[in-house]
Amino acid sequence: MAAPLGRVFEDVLMADARAVEARLDALLPAIFGNRLRAAMRYAILGQGKRLRPFFVLESSRLHDVNDTLALNVACALECVHCYSLVHDDLPAMDNDNLRRGQPTTHRKFDEATAILAGDALLTFAFEILSAANAPVGVFGSLAKASGPDGMVGGQMLDIEAETGNFSSLAEISNMQQKKTGALFAFACTAGAVLAKADAAPLQLYAEKVGLAFQITDDVLDVESDASILGKATGKDSGRGKATFVDFLGLGAAKAESEKRVEEAIAALSPYGTQAGVLSQAARFMITRRK
Ligand code: IPE
Ligand code: IPE
Ligand code: MG
Ligand code: MG
Ligand code: MG
Repeated sequence: MAAPLGRVFEDVLMADARAVEARLDALLPAIFGNRLRAAMRYAILGQGKRLRPFFVLESSRLHDVNDTLALNVACALECVHCYSLVHDDLPAMDNDNLRRGQPTTHRKFDEATAILAGDALLTFAFEILSAANAPVGVFGSLAKASGPDGMVGGQMLDIEAETGNFSSLAEISNMQQKKTGALFAFACTAGAVLAKADAAPLQLYAEKVGLAFQITDDVLDVESDASILGKATGKDSGRGKATFVDFLGLGAAKAESEKRVEEAIAALSPYGTQAGVLSQAARFMITRRK
């Protein structure tokens, strides 16, 4: 349904997060004695910001998409995102012990269970889309955003970059656009895709928002504290990751992220005042503290 004007981003994000969590809880009920279910629920029902679901829901409101369909698509995307976090934290990847303020899934359970819970969240995403009778194009675009040309491809580049293979900002931006940007692009364009409307302005918005988001992730890794961030800090430089901060330095990285926010907001001009909350969301990408 279309949304009234004058809404505040933080309120919308919180309400959307609660709606998504309630829906995920219902889609994935606990089954007594089922270890895989327990690990899946652990990985997905923690303290996430639920930014990607918010973008699905808000872009859907902008295009008058059916609320239930949008909520299911938002949940499917959050399943993919949480799977990516579980695998990202594994010893063979970033080897992290803390996620969303809690032990990572492989720490809480064990590695094999975490690998399987990740696999199961990824495939469950497509079960959700199927049960919701989502249009076929949405299956394809979520698969593409998640796979070799999207998130997984970006994660591979991220690992390869640890050995110092990257030397230009363009290469780091390309890695980011796949690793983080692809799922944001799916999220931000979802409403237009579901409504079969022109997704080009939201695609441009998403590219900028995704960059601002990942630059801030890299900045917070240097500047924040695990007690606020809910995940360890200082891990990128510790592992020789090719980040925006590593390449540009803190000051220039922040300036870069501010530019991206302005560009994201400019990309919303075709939607006029209807895009007020998305415009506030773009700013949040760099003002966020976790
Ligand atoms: C963390 O994403 C992973 C990256 C892509 C950098 P978020 O910061 O959105 O994590 P949650 O979902 O709020 O925990
Ligand atoms: C991970 O990037 C992106 C994913 C696809 C999960 P990071 O490795 O920087 O994410 P954090 O900092 O561990 O959340
Ligand atoms: Mg990583
Ligand atoms: Mg990581
Ligand atoms: Mg990071």
